[in-house]
Amino acid sequence: MNQKKIAVFRKEHFNAAHRLHNPSLDDATNKQLFGKCNNPNYHGHNYELIVRVTGVLDEQTGYVIDTKILSDIIKTYVLEELDHKNLNLDVAHFKNLNPTAENIVMVIYDILRKQLDNRYELKLTLYETERNFVEFPVE
Ligand code: NI
Repeated sequence: MNQKKIAVFRKEHFNAAHRLHNPSLDDATNKQLFGKCNNPNYHGHNYELIVRVTGVLDEQTGYVIDTKILSDIIKTYVLEELDHKNLNLDVAHFKNLNPTAENIVMVIYDILRKQLDNRYELKLTLYETERNFVEFPVE
């Protein structure tokens, strides 16, 4: 049986609004730290999420994971939660957490990790813009 690891990727997309703001700092400092992302009336991003699941082949199917099942998990637990939402106002995870790309990717990781069997390794890449993206976890 082939025990070599192979990675499967699923790319997803969501739109969301946010405001980067640290309530323990004054307005001028927030503006300086977060620039346009500190805009009080929020602004949107088109987020691209790349989910990498690594494991060995299932003998019966020849899959690492059925991408339909993976896609359904992402849809149900991530996209339904975040897509077309105001992250600061609508999503409980960000009630007291600044919705930076770093924090968003870690929140998504926690959500997906709970839904995936432990035999899978999980790694996420989240694009906030075409040029700005984050990866979690880092080896
Ligand atoms: Ni922003």
